[in-house]
Amino acid sequence: MSFVKILRCVSCGKEFDPKKAIYCCDQCGERLDVIYDYGAMRGKISKDQFNQRPSCSTLRYPEFLPIFDYGKVVSLGEGGTPLTQCNRLGRKLGLENLYAKDESRNPTGVFKDRATVLAVTKALEFGRRKVAIASTGNAAASLSAYVAKAGLDCNVFVPESTPMAKVSQAVAYGAKIIQVKGNYDRTYELAVEACEAFGWYNCNPAWNPFRTEGKKTIAYEICEQSEWSAPDWVVVPVGNGCNLAGIWKGFKEYYELGFIAKKPRILGIQPTGSSPVVTAFLEKKDHFESVIPKTLAGALAIGKPRNFVKAIKSLKESNGLADSVTDDEILEAQSLLATTEGIFAEPGGVAGVAGLLKAVKAGVIDAKDTVCCIITGNGLKDPEAPLKIARKPVLIEPSIESIRKNALNT
Ligand code: F0G
Repeated sequence: MSFVKILRCVSCGKEFDPKKAIYCCDQCGERLDVIYDYGAMRGKISKDQFNQRPSCSTLRYPEFLPIFDYGKVVSLGEGGTPLTQCNRLGRKLGLENLYAKDESRNPTGVFKDRATVLAVTKALEFGRRKVAIASTGNAAASLSAYVAKAGLDCNVFVPESTPMAKVSQAVAYGAKIIQVKGNYDRTYELAVEACEAFGWYNCNPAWNPFRTEGKKTIAYEICEQSEWSAPDWVVVPVGNGCNLAGIWKGFKEYYELGFIAKKPRILGIQPTGSSPVVTAFLEKKDHFESVIPKTLAGALAIGKPRNFVKAIKSLKESNGLADSVTDDEILEAQSLLATTEGIFAEPGGVAGVAGLLKAVKAGVIDAKDTVCCIITGNGLKDPEAPLKIARKPVLIEPSIESIRKNALNT
């Protein structure tokens, strides 16, 4: 049973009926937050109850999700991703307690699946058959998969520059792909306009208030996988800021209910060429300056972060920090994670590791701190990236002599 109370605007506080298909505040245009009745939850749910629930997955937390009709749920088995202790990477970084929450293990290879299960289920609850989304690629492929299972009609808007692997994944699931001559920021606005013009249910990240609720479950899982404790730091790559805000909300809720004794600090990381959240945070501003994104981490190439208010609030509330990393630092981190831990993540998915490296070097994070790095997306979604710095394959004649000549000691 869901304990949802109301939808509330994060800026002006106006409240809305959670059973209606609304997106943003009609008074000030800001994002809506799903508010639960924590008072009523206390005493009714306990850690023991969760311990007894079988699988670790996004849908394991009905009390904390805005789903009213479980008969409408469309799931591909999202969530329940491993929390892996990273001893080799930890040693390289000088950290004794480093963990990776490997979100690349979700059904479509990205944490977005946790949000998509909510978006598609809500579309069905609202009786909508046509949905749309704007995406840098991953949310698009994810929505396409869930919509295929639900048998809905899906229009996906992606910037022209989206890596072909992500486009091809969405194509495989049968979605209609609309490539836009422009960057993500224009693509996002176009998708909003198109949803209004054609009556499609809008699944855009940040715009759709229900998606973030799925992302909270990353935090719940981390706590449960750590014997009901939170790490000292959680490191998150940031684009629109939805994931960061969702993860922080999850920790806050578990703390609020007394499931964990302390909350983590959040370290948010953006690529230097696309870092409006980081800049605003460091300059202590309550608004962002939009930028023209320039980074090889296409998933994070977002010049107008659509969940800015929630993201900044989350960073501040968690006593967190934010920093940016260059594309070279991201590629080095990609290689480091893959070669030490066997986890191959796309550039946007590994930006947190690059940021963590910087934070440890700067002495911001202590060797003894427990750190959890969120690895958000699978490396196969942008397979060309590692070839920019990694050792290239050697082409040889099929002979031992040729191995000796070309492949030994290279
Ligand atoms: N990591 C990956 C792999 C992503 O695909 C994204 C966002 C992020 C991190 C950033 O998350 O926006 O919640 O701060 N991808 C979106 C998309 C924008 O359309 O797939 P955020």
